[in-house]
Amino acid sequence: MKNFLPLAAALLLAPAAQAAAPAPTPPLTGKVLYARNCARCHGPNGRLGLNGAHDLTKSNLNAFGRTYLVTNGMGKMPSFQKQLTPPQIAAVVAYSLTLK
Ligand code: HEC
Repeated sequence: MKNFLPLAAALLLAPAAQAAAPAPTPPLTGKVLYARNCARCHGPNGRLGLNGAHDLTKSNLNAFGRTYLVTNGMGKMPSFQKQLTPPQIAAVVAYSLTLK
C-alpha cells in the first residue's frame, strides 16, 4: 500500500499538469512561428528588411493578403505551404498584424 501513494499522486497530478500546459499556447503560437519562420528576414519586430523583406510595421496588407503571400510566396519571400499548416499560417499572419 505504501508504494501506491506516489503512483496515485502521479495519476492525480498528471492530468492537471497537462491541462495547465496548453493554456499559454494559443497567444504564443503565432509569435513562436513568427520567430522561427519570419524573423530571419523580417526581424523580431518586423522592421529588419533583410533579403529585400518589406517592413511589416508599414504593410497595408490585410489578413487575407498576408495569408495568400505567406502560403504562396512572392519574389524573394518563400512559400510556406510545405512548412506550415493553414491554422499555423493563420496564427503567424495574425501575429504579424500585431507588429506596429
Ligand atoms: C527569406 C526571407 C523572408 C522570409 C523568411 C519571410 N519573408 Fe516576408 N517578405 C520577404 C520579402 C523579400 C518580401 C517582399 C516580397 C515582394 O513584394 O516581392 C516580403 C514581404 C512580406 C509581406 C508583405 C509586406 C508588404 O505589405 O509589402 C508580408 C505580410 C510578409 N512578408 C510576411 C511574412 C511572414 C508572416 C513570414 C513568416 C511566415 C515571412 N514573411 C517570411 C522576405 C521574407
